[in-house]
Amino acid sequence: MSITSAAELEGMQKISAVVATTLKEMRAYAKPGMSTKALDHYGRGILEDFGARSAPKLTYGFPGWSCISVNHEMAHGIPSAKKILQEGDLINIDVSAELNGFWGDNGGSFVLGEDIHQHQQLVDASKQILYKAIHHIKGGVRIADLGGLIEQEAKKQGYKVIKNLTGHGIGRSLHEAPSEIANFRDPFNKTRFKTHSVVAIETFIATHSTYANTQADGWTLIGNKGGYVAQHEHTIVITEDKPVILTAMNDIWN
Ligand code: CO
Ligand code: CO
Repeated sequence: MSITSAAELEGMQKISAVVATTLKEMRAYAKPGMSTKALDHYGRGILEDFGARSAPKLTYGFPGWSCISVNHEMAHGIPSAKKILQEGDLINIDVSAELNGFWGDNGGSFVLGEDIHQHQQLVDASKQILYKAIHHIKGGVRIADLGGLIEQEAKKQGYKVIKNLTGHGIGRSLHEAPSEIANFRDPFNKTRFKTHSVVAIETFIATHSTYANTQADGWTLIGNKGGYVAQHEHTIVITEDKPVILTAMNDIWN
């Protein structure tokens, strides 16, 4: 969406604060021995206290309130009573929701407890790349150039990017135009970021894979060449200078 009034900005600020708070609290709540279903249930409680509704459930009928992806799962992991978190797991939580007709989206990967499987470097790379990418965006910047920057930064650190998962416009629904803010330079994408528009920018930084494949459950995404993926995501408003990061309070950069 494009922000055209103070009321619209306020609506986006509210839902963004809700998803950011939910993500931050879920991350703090995650502990070894807990099921991803219990973690999702905790997040559901926070969303419902704010009067917000789960975006993936509402939009796609996703079987959970948030997406919780563990280790080789890169995204859209289904919360499950059978999936028990363990020390050193690479976990991604993605929380998106709707409140009063406004939609916000954010996500982040982290290592649970001690980093016994050495995932922290990948997590840190993804965080840094998202930071660099977001601070490169202003009205008039080509979306393809942003993709090029993300891909180049990943390469510099020895990583790949996932080509078929992207950031997106957001605001009056979960996924809006521009529908594909890719993590690589797409020479066919001539679109430019527009001042006042709201977008969700997300990294998909990978150790081995370049494509996400949907599993038999119809949701969970796993890499075509295995390995691990880290994702970090913020909802932002584009300006003529630095963007306004609506989900800043999720603390994914700290
Ligand atoms: Co998103
Ligand atoms: Co998301």
